[in-house]
Parts: sequence; C-alpha cells; structure tokens
Amino acid sequence: MPQAELVVVANRLPVDRVEGATGDDVWRRSPGGLVTALEPLMRREDGAWVGWPGQAGLDIEPFDFEGTHLVPVPLSEEEVQLYYEGFSNDTIWPLYHDVIAEPRYRRVWWDAYVKVNRRFAEATASVTAEGGTVWVQDYQLQLVPRMLRDLRPDLTIGYFHHIPFPAYGLFSQLPWRRQVLEGLLGADVVGFQRVADAGNFARAIRRQLRYVTKASGITVPERDGETRNVLAKAFPISIDTASYVELAQRADVRARAAEIRESLGNPSKILLGVDRLDYTKGIRHRLKAFGELLEDGRLSVEDVTLVQVASPSRERVEAYVQLRDEIELMVSRIGGDRDTMDHTAIRYLHQGYPREEMVALFLAADVMLVTALRDGMNLVAKEYVATRTDNRGVLILSEFAGAADELGTALRINPHDIDALKDTIVRAVEMPPAEQGRRMRAMRRKVIENDVHAWSSSFLDALANARAHKDDEP
Ligand code: G6P
Repeated sequence: MPQAELVVVANRLPVDRVEGATGDDVWRRSPGGLVTALEPLMRREDGAWVGWPGQAGLDIEPFDFEGTHLVPVPLSEEEVQLYYEGFSNDTIWPLYHDVIAEPRYRRVWWDAYVKVNRRFAEATASVTAEGGTVWVQDYQLQLVPRMLRDLRPDLTIGYFHHIPFPAYGLFSQLPWRRQVLEGLLGADVVGFQRVADAGNFARAIRRQLRYVTKASGITVPERDGETRNVLAKAFPISIDTASYVELAQRADVRARAAEIRESLGNPSKILLGVDRLDYTKGIRHRLKAFGELLEDGRLSVEDVTLVQVASPSRERVEAYVQLRDEIELMVSRIGGDRDTMDHTAIRYLHQGYPREEMVALFLAADVMLVTALRDGMNLVAKEYVATRTDNRGVLILSEFAGAADELGTALRINPHDIDALKDTIVRAVEMPPAEQGRRMRAMRRKVIENDVHAWSSSFLDALANARAHKDDEP
C-alpha cells in the first residue's frame, strides 16, 4: 500500500458492511457528517483512513473505497467487549458526560484499551508518509497521539475530541487520568467542541501534570529535555449544510413531509425528537414533560403529536439495555393513558432512517426538541435548522449541548427543570410565525457560515501552522 500524506484514524472505518443485491456483503459509505466532511479531502490528498471494520473477528486486508485507502484494524470479540463496550462506552462515555450514568472502572478494560490503542498507533505509523499529517478522532483513541509520536516523531499529529471533556472534579475519578492526559498531549493540536471543554482540559493538565498552560499553548516537557508546544482549543463541529439544504428543497422530499403529516392524522403541531437511544440525550425528561402537558390538559392528543426517533445504539451495554426498557415503559404508559381511537400521543420509532427520510421529518416538524443532559455538540439541532429553508419551526435546545454556544436564538432550556421545559414547549407550540422567522434566520446564518468543511479546514490549518512552527525550530 502506498504511504499517505494525510491519515485519519477513528474507531470506525467510514464504511458499513451491508448485504448487497446478490446476497453477498458489500461496503457502503457510512452516513455520518464526519465522513461526508472528510471525503473530498481524502480524495484530493490521496488520504488513508485507519479504523475498525465494525464486526468482531473480521480481519481483512487494506482496500480502496471511492478514492480513500481504508486500513482495517481488527478487533476480537473479547476486545470489542473490553475496549469498545467496556472502557470506551462504560467508563469514558459516562464519566465524560458528567456521570449521568455511573462509570465503571475495571482494570482489564483499561489493559485492553491500551493494547487496542497501540494497535491503532502501529497501523497508522506503517501507512503514513515521512513528515505526513495524522488526524486522530475521539475518545476511543486518546492514547494514540502519544504512542504514535513515540513511533514516528516526524509526523504532525492532531486529535479532535467529539464529546465533552468534564470538569476536573469528575475527571480526577479516572484511575488512569495521568496516562490519558499524557496520551492526548502527544498531539500538536488537541481540538474540543466548546471553549469550556478546552478550559476543563487545561485545568486538568495544570492540576495533574503541573504544566504551564496559556492561550497560545501548553508547554510539554519531553524526555530529551526539550519542550513542545501543544495547542488546545475549541473547533465546534458542524454539518454538511449544503447537502441538507438541497434535500430540503427537493420536491420528492417535500412531498414525503406532507405524507408524514397526513399519516399522523394532520395534527396542528408535530413535535420531534431524534436521538441515538442514549441516556445522555434526556429522552426521559422530554417524555415526562410531554406526558404531564397532556395530563394537565395544556396540550391535547387531538392537536399535538410527538414523534420520537430513537436509533438503536450500543445494545449490549447494560445502561443502554435499562434505558430502553425505561423509555419504552414511559411511551406505552403515556399512550395507554392518553391515546384515543383516532390519535396517538407519541409515535415512537426504535430505528435509524436514511438522510432523505430524516429531512422529510424535519420539514414536517413544527417543534424540534433537543433536551440533552450533556452532549458534545448535537448535530441534530444543526440539521433541523439547515433544513428550514422557509425560516419556520422552533428549536428547543438544551444549554448542556455544545450547539447552544452557537444557536443563541433557540429556546434554551435546562432539561432537569421539568416545569420550565413544559412552559417552553407550550411557548414553542404557540409561537407566532414572525418570531419563528426571526429566530430561525439568525440560526441559519450560523449553520451556513460554519459548516463541516469550514470546521475541517480550520482544524487542518491549525495543524499546518503547528508544523510550520516546528520547521522553524533549530
Ligand atoms: C458519538 C461519538 C462517536 C461515535 C458515535 C456512535 O457521536 O462521538 O465517536 O462513533 O457516537 O457511537 P458508536 O459507539 O456506535 O460508534
């Protein structure tokens, strides 16, 4: 395989293995925003992507897919359990999301995390060209920057953290906090979603490692007595706005939106929630508020329907199994109490949908509910805004989602405050079109200005800058 100048490293490859028309397996591009953002870049730079092919035990040779070299990193069934479901999603995920669920600290999970991170670092070291650039993605791979730097000091290394970075009082619970910080500091640029995340990281570095942190960077002492500068700052991620706008204007997608309204019995207002089925998303809080509004008679099932799409996620992790039970119990209780022969209070869908269908749903929805208890960014909020080319619709947005920093004219809520959430839902349902327009226009400007291409360019510019400074050094 040729050596690549630009290499992206992520837990997952940007493709999914699906059954083709003839019954055999084929690869299909994954729908995520990151993949869409990096695709033109990878093509232009003849780049490579290092990642897990998504199935335990699948060990395949590197292959090319639509202009990108894909380098699969195999994981055994045991490693999926210990590294992915265990340390990544039952230790780091809950800890970094403010301990909404209890993180579990297990030494065998940590050992597997170290081992798998090393495998990713080694695979990356072997496919990156001399002096090349590597961009590591997310919390599953926090040790890769340091491991890679030890293997290949010639590389320029970036790391982007897609989820929140917690306050030091929580982070310090982690028995391996020092190793994680040192792992991340192997990068030249460490990117976060919010200014507050970058601040939490800098504080952890000061408290734990006693390094000096400034706006211009963190001074990291190296083993040879020299120091390196590591830039840690916010680069808020976004979506491929143009593709959402395009879909929202397509006649077939608009017709589908009308069909969805019709299929729900043409309620006067449709409320919408779209989430991975995850305890960080505040789905229970949303259901509680909606259920109480029906009970109080402030909303009625004749007029208002809540569509809740909850796509399956991490289904073998205990906290997710429990959450699904709780949510489905709530949905069926509310339905049992409030549904009529002709009207359903909640249309609950435990499925994922293609992007066209999601855009049709966004167009059909009068009110979008984002009630996350903690969320790195929440791209659904931005997707909803991007599709509202008519400048109508109301976004209710949790202040605990990164998107709240940019979407200042959304109706902001604290999802723990159920009474305020209820009042805000009523306000959204009753909001006059002129106010909807004012708020939506301001949000649309932000999402058009800062799309995912602007995001990746600004991160890669910061990396190029870091490299230029290194080259200047004697
Ligand atoms: C979040 C994380 C990603 C992750 C995605 C889906 O957005 O930041 O790193 O890929 O969730 O989760 P999964 O565990 O299915 O990869």
